[in-house]
Amino acid sequence: MNSLIEILPTDITTLKVDAIVNAANTSLLGGGGVDGAIHRAAGPELLAECRTLNGCETGNAKITKGYRLPAKVVIHTVGPIWHGGTRGESGLLRNCYLSSFRLARLNDVKSIAFPAISCGVYGYPPLKAACIALSVARDEATEGHFDRIVFALFTAETLKAYRDAAAELNL
Ligand code: APR
Repeated sequence: MNSLIEILPTDITTLKVDAIVNAANTSLLGGGGVDGAIHRAAGPELLAECRTLNGCETGNAKITKGYRLPAKVVIHTVGPIWHGGTRGESGLLRNCYLSSFRLARLNDVKSIAFPAISCGVYGYPPLKAACIALSVARDEATEGHFDRIVFALFTAETLKAYRDAAAELNL
């Protein structure tokens, strides 16, 4: 395993990293899953800031402060809804990771944690999603900007998928 990249069974809201990434929807006004957990942990100021952002397109990302979270900032990205793989889902998911890393670099984020974007309500197959997430992370890790890239996995299924994908990619 590349030493910068960690696969952890954990609640992303507990992590003391520069940035955590939220798997949001295009409204950026909150929801269930990890989005709900992040808003609950950050407090109402997060929603107030999100209201000023005018939403976010699928595959893109926007940044806010972290408020009551241990993380300094939250990068909100919108994953694709899985429709069987024929509607550009893989490119859109890849763009989520690319946009989030780009925004992180621009904001001097050195440590970043991701959930399994699109692998909950949006139905993306976890192994396919993990291969995309880890291959983008591997490219970022070799660029030298980041000290720590964490994948915070909340379910046994996603944890296994990420471990299997890491083995497949020889990480
Ligand atoms: N920490 C880390 N991961 C979590 C947490 C948490 N606290 N809570 C849930 N997860 C996991 C889920 O188990 C799933 O594996 O995050 C992964 C992503 O699931 P969702 O939160 O459902 O996100 P997604 O599939 O991208 O769907 C986005 O859900 O909540 C809404 O507003 C959100 O409409 C958007 C949609």
